[in-house]
Amino acid sequence: SANTRKDPDGVLTVAGHRVTDLARTYASPLYVLDVADLRSRARGFVAAFTQSFDAVGTRARVYYAGKALLTSAVAQWVAAEGMGIDTCSLGELMTARRAGVDPGVIGLHGNNKSDEEIAYALDWGIARIVVDSLDEIDRIEAAAAARGVRAPVMIRVTVGVEAHTHDFIATAHEDQKFGLSLQSGAARTAADRAHASPHLDLIGLHSHIGSQIFDRSGFEVAARRIVGLRAEIQRDHGASLPEIDLGGGFGMRYTSQDTPPPIADMAAQLADVVARTCQEEGTDLPVVSFEPGRAIVGPAVFTLYTVGTVKGVETETGVRTYVSVDGGMSDNVRTALYDADYSCTLASRSSDGDPTVVRVVGSHCESGDILVRDEYLPADVRAGDLVAVPGTGAYCQPLASNYNLTPRPGVLAVSAGRADWIIRPETHDDLLGRDCGPIADA
Ligand code: LLP
Repeated sequence: SANTRKDPDGVLTVAGHRVTDLARTYASPLYVLDVADLRSRARGFVAAFTQSFDAVGTRARVYYAGKALLTSAVAQWVAAEGMGIDTCSLGELMTARRAGVDPGVIGLHGNNKSDEEIAYALDWGIARIVVDSLDEIDRIEAAAAARGVRAPVMIRVTVGVEAHTHDFIATAHEDQKFGLSLQSGAARTAADRAHASPHLDLIGLHSHIGSQIFDRSGFEVAARRIVGLRAEIQRDHGASLPEIDLGGGFGMRYTSQDTPPPIADMAAQLADVVARTCQEEGTDLPVVSFEPGRAIVGPAVFTLYTVGTVKGVETETGVRTYVSVDGGMSDNVRTALYDADYSCTLASRSSDGDPTVVRVVGSHCESGDILVRDEYLPADVRAGDLVAVPGTGAYCQPLASNYNLTPRPGVLAVSAGRADWIIRPETHDDLLGRDCGPIADA
């Protein structure tokens, strides 16, 4: 994160806190969230998109994708920086509500929303429900009718674009569970039904094309297709759909191999393509919203681990050093699950040891329990050292598990002169407390 440095002793500091002190006071493994960094990323994203879309004559709105990491405090911070919050479960809705976020800036996603989630969203009065199936239209309609309200809905459209990092694929056929297909006409059918319903207010169309995207081309194709469909619906129905949403997916830097473009460039290019396409279609400019998660919170967190066993293992090409730490796939499953790349650094001291390629692994009973596949650490790395893995703010804590009955780490929010738990660490009592004990007479 932005406020990390090494002090003269080689100790990593964040917002002035030495990680050696943090580990002593709060124990490891520990997710450390740099509050100023999170807030400045949120602020910067909102400013960049607001300015770029203002410049072409419309407004941008930014919804933070809570799935990346959501706690009441995180919700409070991003909302204070001008973001709405995109939720996709009852738990995320409840967390945003508990944080005191205005329901007028809350969205709800989900391919299988429960009646309870729909009811909660309508009763709280959130800004929009993003419809993901034709079935859902009937269910939202019934819930809205029962309450005598008009539910604001967007249609999630699969536009036939799948984007990852530097490339995207335009596919006609979308074999996946999300959204309603543009190609097959399902998206249009859903929009027509929503438009016709007295209980639904069709406010716009939505597209989300992927995650960890560095290249704007996929967004551009999606924007053109969404703008085109909106123009068609507006023409055919004489309707007005005030908003489009181009989703999240903005990439972040995990290792030195990753070079995401400046967010201001991305914003300017997307504003330009939306404006040009609207002009070509002879249609008015919509409000354009976005749902970044990873790019906002990912870089703001690092995970702090303590080294235990260090082992040299003979391989065909030499000896590989396995550095085991006191966490693993239970606090960061992304390497095991997605083959993700992370880096790490020796955080508790300086060392003259030769840089040696090591593999940082967790403590779980699975050989795929790898945190950092290949990284240089000083050859004298040893038990008791602290290792920091940066870039763990997105999709690590939310995907954490209790594998091997391991308590999940807490999230410590640090800023100059203060440190606060925003999620407390789990304890073995928490885990054993859910175990109902031996069954009598079983
Ligand atoms: N909006 C929608 C509708 C989404 O499905 C997602 C992410 C986002 C926004 C936020 O995307 P972001 O800006 O964070 O890339 N667990 C995977 C990522 C799953 C993304 C799911 N949807 C990972 O760890 O890479």
